[in-house]
Amino acid sequence: MNIIVCKNYAEMSNVAAKMMSELMQKKPNCVLGLATGSTPEGMYASLAEMCERGDISFENVTTVNLDEYYPIAPTNDQSYRYFMNRQLFDRVNINKANTNVPDGTAKDPVAECKRYEQLVSDLGGIDLQILGIGRNGHIGFNEPDTKLMLDTHVTDLTEDTIEANSRFFASANDVPRRALTMGIGTIFKAKKIVVLASGASKKDAVSAMLERTVDTNFPATMLNLHPDVTLICTQDVLD
Ligand code: GLP
Repeated sequence: MNIIVCKNYAEMSNVAAKMMSELMQKKPNCVLGLATGSTPEGMYASLAEMCERGDISFENVTTVNLDEYYPIAPTNDQSYRYFMNRQLFDRVNINKANTNVPDGTAKDPVAECKRYEQLVSDLGGIDLQILGIGRNGHIGFNEPDTKLMLDTHVTDLTEDTIEANSRFFASANDVPRRALTMGIGTIFKAKKIVVLASGASKKDAVSAMLERTVDTNFPATMLNLHPDVTLICTQDVLD
């Protein structure tokens, strides 16, 4: 795993945005795998600024997001579709029809996961996948378990994740108990993976990931098996 250590959150965000912008300049019709959570917000702001300046264009870019709560409406301000529109899609020249987030309103969530998996496959995989890391080591919503799923699937959120994500909701009771998420195999279809981590709360998660062992009870450790992963983190994550 390559590691890029940054002074602070702003530098981490800019380094990641620069990496994405270089890919977009080289391959204007690239497929970007996107993540939610507070960690990539600065990177999205930086990409929006670059686009505003005319340095990059999203005109021919396709995006696929990692995950979505289930059930949840896209108009709910805690949905990942809403988050992506607000943080990036509404701020750049992307064709919304080319932005993909699992559908949190699907009547048949299993069928929706199948459709999503096929979509990623039909796109020919992902050129660059951005990942955050949950404090319990989850990636996307692949939660710690004795078995991990390869394909996009419906998952139950762990109590730890419900508690961690409740800071965005009125209360923990309002956090949906399930989610639709790319599986480890879907994520591994990405040619390149960039993991972002910032702040002392990610220290344990990142150090477990860097131990170079693989443990399904700590999904981020699976990333040691992928040939092209770069961790971009702030210094305090490693202290
Ligand atoms: C959520 C998302 C993950 C994200 C994680 C970390 O649970 N499903 O994709 O990586 O939160 O979020 P944060 O960046 O806010 O710490």
